[in-house]
Amino acid sequence: MRHLISPLDFTTEELDRLFDLAASIEREPGRYAHVCEGRILATCFYEPSTRTRLSFESAMIRLGGRVLGFSDAGSSSAAKGESVADTIQVISCYADICAMRHPKEGAATVAAGKSRIPVINAGDGGHHHPTQTLTDLLTIRNLKGRLEHFTIGLCGDLKFGRTVHSLIHALVRYPGIRFLFISPEELRIPDYITEMLREKDIPFEEVIRLDDVLPQLDLLYMTRVQKERFFNEEDYVRLKDFYILTPEKMKLAREDMLVLHPLPRVNEIDVEVDHDPRAAYFRQAQYGVYVRMALIMTLLGLAD
Ligand code: NCD
Repeated sequence: MRHLISPLDFTTEELDRLFDLAASIEREPGRYAHVCEGRILATCFYEPSTRTRLSFESAMIRLGGRVLGFSDAGSSSAAKGESVADTIQVISCYADICAMRHPKEGAATVAAGKSRIPVINAGDGGHHHPTQTLTDLLTIRNLKGRLEHFTIGLCGDLKFGRTVHSLIHALVRYPGIRFLFISPEELRIPDYITEMLREKDIPFEEVIRLDDVLPQLDLLYMTRVQKERFFNEEDYVRLKDFYILTPEKMKLAREDMLVLHPLPRVNEIDVEVDHDPRAAYFRQAQYGVYVRMALIMTLLGLAD
């Protein structure tokens, strides 16, 4: 039985097959409308979410399956003190596959160790968010035509942003990637990531000003300052509007640069940028459904 806990759980060849399946689903959704008939997806969300939970539910429903679950820890037995390990053993009796989001790093790993059904990590604290990474990779592959040889700028909360951490881990396996980390001093990318990049000899730079590097970028990955992971409100308020991407700034960027964002957006991208053909974040959300459909099929052994 397979789980998806870290973005490295699939080889790049397996990812190619997954993305090909997602592309096929996009082209011919009708062909896949019944493949999960009689199957149940449980969504166990101990932390707020709109996109991830609903995109999983939409994915399963579009495959003909059904969904059950909870969307906050307060309405589950976690509020009574039940452990994740016990909860997943019970969920294994009710569903065929489970997507779990939890504020604690490592929660999905614990769940997978006790589960009798495939577990998908839908975000564990500031650690990983592998299905967002699959979404990001599929978006890049579809809109850029490749997953190698580009300069990507990651901007915003690089310290707490789990989508950033997961995406970097996934991208280092492709040749010719150069990273530009754009963040205020307080929200710098963690040392364990820069050490990993140094070990692998992958080029990266850390900068504070977005304008200085915008013209070099093939991809700009904007992120929200992760309010819920701050220890005090004052720091959050000081940093939350550090970057705001405006139509004015977009003039500095290449004609074919793509702007990605895992969403939700707060202030970091002006809504006026939405009309720019380079803004890809809402298309990215659509790809998130196709890739989760492909993932559910794959983990349930229904992909062939
Ligand atoms: C992200 C997350 O939950 O980490 N959202 C998402 O799943 N698309 C990003 C965020 O919350 O900023």
